[in-house]
Amino acid sequence: MLAIIGGSGLAEFAGLAISHRRPAPTPYGEASAPLTFGHLGGRPVVFLARHGDAHSLAPHEVNYRANIWALRDCEPLGIVAVAAVGSIRADLRPGDLLIPHQILDYTWGRASTYHEGPGSAVHHVDFTEPYDRRLRRRLCAAAAKAVVAVSDAGVYAATQGPRLETAAEINRLERDGADVVGMTGMPEAALARELGIPYAAINVVANYAAGRGEAGQGISLETIRQVLEEAMEPVRRLIETMLASDDHD
Ligand code: HPA
Repeated sequence: MLAIIGGSGLAEFAGLAISHRRPAPTPYGEASAPLTFGHLGGRPVVFLARHGDAHSLAPHEVNYRANIWALRDCEPLGIVAVAAVGSIRADLRPGDLLIPHQILDYTWGRASTYHEGPGSAVHHVDFTEPYDRRLRRRLCAAAAKAVVAVSDAGVYAATQGPRLETAAEINRLERDGADVVGMTGMPEAALARELGIPYAAINVVANYAAGRGEAGQGISLETIRQVLEEAMEPVRRLIETMLASDDHD
């Protein structure tokens, strides 16, 4: 089955034929919400709302270790994570979708590995390519098939939040090579890698990042909410098309 993590604007997955929900305790604590099991595009999926059912967990409060561990218990073939981002590039507009290929991590103080604490051996994972190449390719192919416009590569910068960035911070992220900025992509991607689960993301551009485009005068959170609400329909279509095109579960 495929696991889907829904971010801001996607606390529920419309169109998912739900069979049941199950609380998700793990050795790392409770996941953000009960897991929702169902079918999409005729295939089994498990869905998890990253910020909780009531969107009550800020990016730095999310228990990423519990979330990824809970999904691992479902033995998914992969995780598709949906996450809102701000765009640093003029040509990536609010409402656009991006399948990122690289990550810059500026987060701090988050529990970001399963390999720490008493008795745990030092463990390094290869993270050269943080997103699973095959899963990214399947998402891009499904986008073409579903006639959903996506950018097929980009560098995602993960910031700590929960505040948005300053204009100077966005300039710095651009100099570092970032295309989009969000708050939840890390340590999520690294934890999935530690557990050996193929992981890819769909970034939904909610706004121009601070100081860019119409965000030059500040970012309207109400506009972000509206943009995300509208952008979730193509996101759903994209994932559904990918599942319906799969030749296995
Ligand atoms: N910055 C960080 N995270 C975000 C933004 C942003 O501008 N928009 C949506 N998530």
